Amino acid sequence: MKGLVLAGGKGTRLRPLTYTSAKQLVPVANKPVLFYALEAIVAAGITEIGIIVGDTREEIKAAVGDGSRFGAEITYIPQEAPLGLAHAVLIAEPFLGDSPFVMYLGDNLIAGGITSLVDEYRELGVNCEILLAEVPNPQQFGVAELAADGRVVRLVEKPREPRSNLALVGVYMFDARIFESVKRIKPSPRGELEITDAIQDLIDRGLSVHPHTVRGWWKDTGKLEDMLEANRIVLEKLEPAREGEASADSRIEGRVTLGKGARLSGSVVR
Ligand code: G1P
Repeated sequence: MKGLVLAGGKGTRLRPLTYTSAKQLVPVANKPVLFYALEAIVAAGITEIGIIVGDTREEIKAAVGDGSRFGAEITYIPQEAPLGLAHAVLIAEPFLGDSPFVMYLGDNLIAGGITSLVDEYRELGVNCEILLAEVPNPQQFGVAELAADGRVVRLVEKPREPRSNLALVGVYMFDARIFESVKRIKPSPRGELEITDAIQDLIDRGLSVHPHTVRGWWKDTGKLEDMLEANRIVLEKLEPAREGEASADSRIEGRVTLGKGARLSGSVVR
């Protein structure tokens, strides 16, 4: 399998943070949010990763490099304009070839990584696996409608009147059948080729789309309050560690990680 990470967006909804930095490089607990995606993909055993880049390509390239620090081999795929997630799949076809792939939106964070999901996708042998999460504000996401037997019947991008509270999480698994669908769909009212519409096209053509409802936390860090919440969640889960040195007259209070090589002298950290 290959990986496709989307890091092309401008992050206008994350201003002012994104006036000075690409949204995928905004740190969560001191680490760019994009790095969590790359680490999760590598942990799932996928090392050939394409990253879709836009206006902020130089910044992203400077931060990620050739991928060797993640144990991955990175191919940068420039997208000339933010024409949608399905458009990103379209331009990644030469890189992806006929390999199944996991697509990961570079501003999404998902608890527990994606290894078990990628394994499930491989075992099921379906054309596509989508992740769903219950949210209080489905209007702001792609929304799935499931039949009584759990099958996906309909996917709608940012519906005004959502038929459920199940949002599409920004991690998707596909085989090469998705390329036919991204070529068949038309731009949405916001002028983008929506991956939600492409997956609906898979369903309409009778191909298999397996929905997996995520029970742990998931965050689309595209908006300021979500980014702050993501920081809170990740920091709470951080195990305090003491790898550096602290002098006898220093005090460490609460959940503090003293990194390797750090030296604390006569101070209080909390
Ligand atoms: C995109 C998708 C949407 C999905 C969301 C997850 O929305 O279009 O279906 O629910 O990511 O983060 P966007 O962030 O582009 O508005």
